[in-house]
Amino acid sequence: MKYHQIDSNLFIKNRKKFMAQMKPKSIAVFNSNDIYPIGSDSTMPFQQARDLFYLSGADQEETILLLFPDAIDEKHREILFVRETNAHIAVWEGEKLTKEKAFEISGIKTVYWLTEFDKVFYDVMTEAESIYFNTNEHYRQSVETETREDRFIKTCKEKFPAHKWEKSNQILQKLRGTKEPEEIALIKHACSITEKGFKRILQFVKPGVMEYEIEAEFMHEFLSNRSRGFAYTPIVGSGYNAVVLHYIENNQECKAGDMLLLDVGAEYANYSSDMTRTIPVSGRFTDRQKQVYEAVLRVKKEATKMLVPGTLWAAYHKEVGKIMTAELLGLGLLDKADVQNENPDWPAYKKYFMHGTSHHLGLDTHDYGPLKTPMEANMVFTVEPGIYLPEEKMGIRLEDDVVIQENGEPINLMKDIPLEIEEIEDWMNRS
Ligand code: GLY
Ligand code: MN
Ligand code: MN
Repeated sequence: MKYHQIDSNLFIKNRKKFMAQMKPKSIAVFNSNDIYPIGSDSTMPFQQARDLFYLSGADQEETILLLFPDAIDEKHREILFVRETNAHIAVWEGEKLTKEKAFEISGIKTVYWLTEFDKVFYDVMTEAESIYFNTNEHYRQSVETETREDRFIKTCKEKFPAHKWEKSNQILQKLRGTKEPEEIALIKHACSITEKGFKRILQFVKPGVMEYEIEAEFMHEFLSNRSRGFAYTPIVGSGYNAVVLHYIENNQECKAGDMLLLDVGAEYANYSSDMTRTIPVSGRFTDRQKQVYEAVLRVKKEATKMLVPGTLWAAYHKEVGKIMTAELLGLGLLDKADVQNENPDWPAYKKYFMHGTSHHLGLDTHDYGPLKTPMEANMVFTVEPGIYLPEEKMGIRLEDDVVIQENGEPINLMKDIPLEIEEIEDWMNRS
């Protein structure tokens, strides 16, 4: 791993919170992700299953976590199974988790080799009445691939048909939505790496640079700061490309006079940052660009103020819609008739601002977290309004990551990343 080891106390706390929600005499199992194939002997780089990481810190393939708070044998209350390492693996693949290292990272005292899983699992299942399966019920999930977790669930249902089934997901959505201080520090660190990348490109962008050259500058800064790289596929879209919401080709030349939208965030220790800035390729905003930019910035500032305990996500989006509508009327992009005749299910402002304003952020960029219950302190959200004008070949989105506070406005983890027009122009015109 490139990141500094995380204090195992975080994972100890996370497991404790999860186990406190489990029913009596139940077992929960969490599997790592597969290493996904490309072709011949090529594979995608490994990414740990976020729930397993959240509960153990184990960042290695072929890992299983088993929790059984009521196990008769105390040493079977928390078990981590890891792939057995040996001298051959050490030479060909490098260092893998030893039992000692797995304990040091996770705080789990009982570490077995994965080859022992079937035997130990059978033994503990004879004591248990139910098993928690870990399915992915994120509101935006659309997974077609069968995961290691899916395969485990299938086999387990066949082998143990008399056990009751429970869901881990509801517990995890709630727990992962509210961050521990250690997690906030990690997200903040990811934001600080993003900040370095953005400050670097502010002095790099000029007419004629290619979008992929900008992507490369970010990557250089990210890797140099112990990040694995981008937390999500970066969007570096100049001119018209900025209105294509999921533009990821990043293969066009940045032209003088165009705006450039950068939706780019570093990951650190599997935690995401998620930033969007929109800057003028020539280093100075035109009056029209300023006008639209200021409108988006005002919406962002107003929206941020609403991210306080008690706010409901759906009601918040309605309010932001009203603020955006007022700005679009001010810009002359909507008129009163558009608003009076609007379809309540697809209000007029959606023509120019068609995506959501906020999502939970954490181990996943679109993180797990409750969306139907009131917001609570220590939830981390993005705030990301935008206005997209295809006819003007211009899309402006501004996005920061904030932490909800018990009292008052949220803390902005990206407060040091240039955002105001003067700051952006100042950074771009430094010699
Ligand atoms: N970068 C993905 C998002 O802003 O939601
Ligand atoms: Mn983003
Ligand atoms: Mn986002």
